Amino acid sequence: MISAVERKIEQFIIELDDAEVMSLYNQLPFGKRLRAKLILKIAGNSLSAIKTAGVVEMIHTASLLHDDVIDDAYTRRSKPSINAIYGDKTAIMLGDILYSKGFLELNNISLEVSKMVSNAVIQLSLGELKDVSLSKAFNIDRDIYLKMIYQKTASLMEASAGAGALLANKPPKPYMTYGCNLGIAFQMIDDILDITADSTTLGKPALHDFEEGKTTLPYIYLYEKLDKEDKAKLKSLHTKKLSTDEQNWIKSKMSEHQVIEQSYGEAKLLIEEAISLMNDRGESGLSKIAIDMIDRSF
Ligand code: FPP
Ligand code: MG
Repeated sequence: MISAVERKIEQFIIELDDAEVMSLYNQLPFGKRLRAKLILKIAGNSLSAIKTAGVVEMIHTASLLHDDVIDDAYTRRSKPSINAIYGDKTAIMLGDILYSKGFLELNNISLEVSKMVSNAVIQLSLGELKDVSLSKAFNIDRDIYLKMIYQKTASLMEASAGAGALLANKPPKPYMTYGCNLGIAFQMIDDILDITADSTTLGKPALHDFEEGKTTLPYIYLYEKLDKEDKAKLKSLHTKKLSTDEQNWIKSKMSEHQVIEQSYGEAKLLIEEAISLMNDRGESGLSKIAIDMIDRSF
């Protein structure tokens, strides 16, 4: 039924009546449509659910268009990003158009769903701002990292699951917790893959996060475990363009201290919690989406 969401998004784009936007939209790489799948799995395939799923995916796409400008990222899902091909101005404006149209369509769904999604977009914008500010210094505070990834990534998954529940007259709270856990685990895995996956699979340069100033969970755990001298060395590499030797040093220290396993274990725990919460409600159909989240390689 995910194809119904694709058709709905295409209809929203056609309604904009602008050939340039249509052409740009057609050049965007297909995503995993995770948030849409979450909504349809929880709410079923009603027209409201399909519309909500379309809106959330448009907002998510908009946020990634902006994120690639903010992160100076020139690839997205192994393809050149819109900012790489057409420049920052086009990428920003395409993002603005997609999320504005999304918000307009939200008004045709329900006030409750609209509030849930709008509030999440505030959170994700606050989270992105925090991500940028944190990148300016070497952050070693795990709680600050967790709050930032909750806002930047988990808030929209939490709202997607919550909106799905509202549309199906189910209690939103447990579904929101499920979505929140999935979102935090998703971002943790995303941050781990930046270190472990090869750049071809990932579609972006490896260890890009650290060069960008992002001290993600494995770096926070590594810093805790290093001796004084190595702590200083790691700190000195922060935000630098890393040589192959420096990349290998970071990776070998991570392997020595098993921080990837530690971080992955934490993401896995969140997924297990989410699955068990849904199993308690007889929603075993929601397990697969959760498992796919930690099994992914890109
Ligand atoms: C990806 O993070 C970024 C996000 C999930 C959120 C981005 C949010 C904004 C830019 C706020 C603006 C919102 C709208 C609606 C325009 P990442 O850089 O860690 O992930 P990546 O590896 O996929 O780039
Ligand atoms: Mg990014």
